[in-house]
Amino acid sequence: MDQVTDPESGTARHTSAPGGETADGGSSRCPVVHFDHTSAVHSLDPVASYRALRAQGPVVWSPEHGGYWVLTDYASVFAAARDDETFSSARSAHGGEGLNNVIPKAPVHLHIPVELDPPEHRTYRKIINAVTAPAALDGLRPRIAYWTARFVDDVIEAGQADLATVIGVPAAVTLDWLGMDASQWQRYSHTMHSVLANRPGTDAHAHALAEGIPWMSQQITDVIAARRAQPRDDIVSYLVGAQVDGAPMSDDAAYSIIELLISGGVGTTASLVSQTLVHLDADRSQRAELIAHPERLERAIEEFLRAFSPTQALARTIVRDTEIAGCPMRAGDRALLAWSSANRDPQQFEAPDEVRIDRWPNRHTAFGLGVHRCAGAHIARAIAAELLGQILTRMPDYVVDRERLRAYPQQGVNAGYEHIPATFTPGARLLPVE
Ligand code: HEM
Repeated sequence: MDQVTDPESGTARHTSAPGGETADGGSSRCPVVHFDHTSAVHSLDPVASYRALRAQGPVVWSPEHGGYWVLTDYASVFAAARDDETFSSARSAHGGEGLNNVIPKAPVHLHIPVELDPPEHRTYRKIINAVTAPAALDGLRPRIAYWTARFVDDVIEAGQADLATVIGVPAAVTLDWLGMDASQWQRYSHTMHSVLANRPGTDAHAHALAEGIPWMSQQITDVIAARRAQPRDDIVSYLVGAQVDGAPMSDDAAYSIIELLISGGVGTTASLVSQTLVHLDADRSQRAELIAHPERLERAIEEFLRAFSPTQALARTIVRDTEIAGCPMRAGDRALLAWSSANRDPQQFEAPDEVRIDRWPNRHTAFGLGVHRCAGAHIARAIAAELLGQILTRMPDYVVDRERLRAYPQQGVNAGYEHIPATFTPGARLLPVE
């Protein structure tokens, strides 16, 4: 395999695989593949695309985006995600400037704690855990119920809706929880999605950089200043009042956490619910089962998380030479941990392509693994349960117009749908008109 030296980092990088088409000098263990998780062809059918990749090997090398390893099976993803000393989440010059956990890197502010390695990570994670643990959810549940009722109320009398607007609930809940303007949920969602999930060079990406990100930055900066001056009962006030190693949290650190909470909160649960609604449109017997047995929803949500993996894949930077599945990796290489592919690994899950709503145990990787495992998992589950619960109760006969159904053009980071036109029997509002 050819190697050149990266002028920025001084490390050797793989470029091509003359003769062997492999990344380990000739054996077939670590093939060089023509794969790009941000491409249109991958986005047409990510499940099939990752299935084909797994068939090539648990670890493969793609020359796209400056070159990156793709970890495709459960064992490799598991090993890398739990080895922070080798697979670092911290920002570095390798792979360009920007957010370390996507390929290509996105030009956003540092995200804390997802871009910190242990032990620094732990300090901030403890602060976040205090407001995202199950015990802290009691205060949030009435708000989740309220926003869900309100979003469903907005469409319930019409008998038709784009369900992609109803799934704004997670974004509204997250913003409300933070203490920010929930009525702007679409602008936040759109900005975050465009910059993280769209390819650089696309109109959506350029627009987000020119307008969305500066606007969002101003909102975050303003809310930090406002809550420092006058704290309220919200998460921004909690964060600006928190102590970090004995000193008050800086505005910059608060910013980094708030932007990450927005990015984690606005799109992911929406993606989970959107894919679930489309699935339950096709599988009417599972829908009937969940309507008849709402107590089965909890386990079903774990299976929807596994099968649909809202966050498809995230990246790390390799900071010391290592080997996974026999593939030699070098310090400075980038690696994509494909949660979605691990979740379909037949070595780990029986009949992985079947959505079995009673699958148990279900050790999926949809929330990641190791120290960075999703801090918002309990919030996400609570929102998904309320939203799916209300939709199945209040519009149980919804039918998706498949002709007009539109998936996001890029499915590499966040899978899901941007339009889910549906019809259903009209129903009654729960809340008075505001
Ligand atoms: C279905 C919904 C969700 C999915 C699939 C999801 C997925 C993930 C994944 C895969 C990670 C691991 C990142 C890594 O290893 O690099 C993560 C981390 C994180 N998520 Fe989520 N997430 C969801 C909902 C949420 C929500 C609702 C919030 C907050 C309100 C949130 C906040 C976070 C934070 C703060 C981290 C960083 C944790 C750390 O670095 O210690 N997520 N999430």
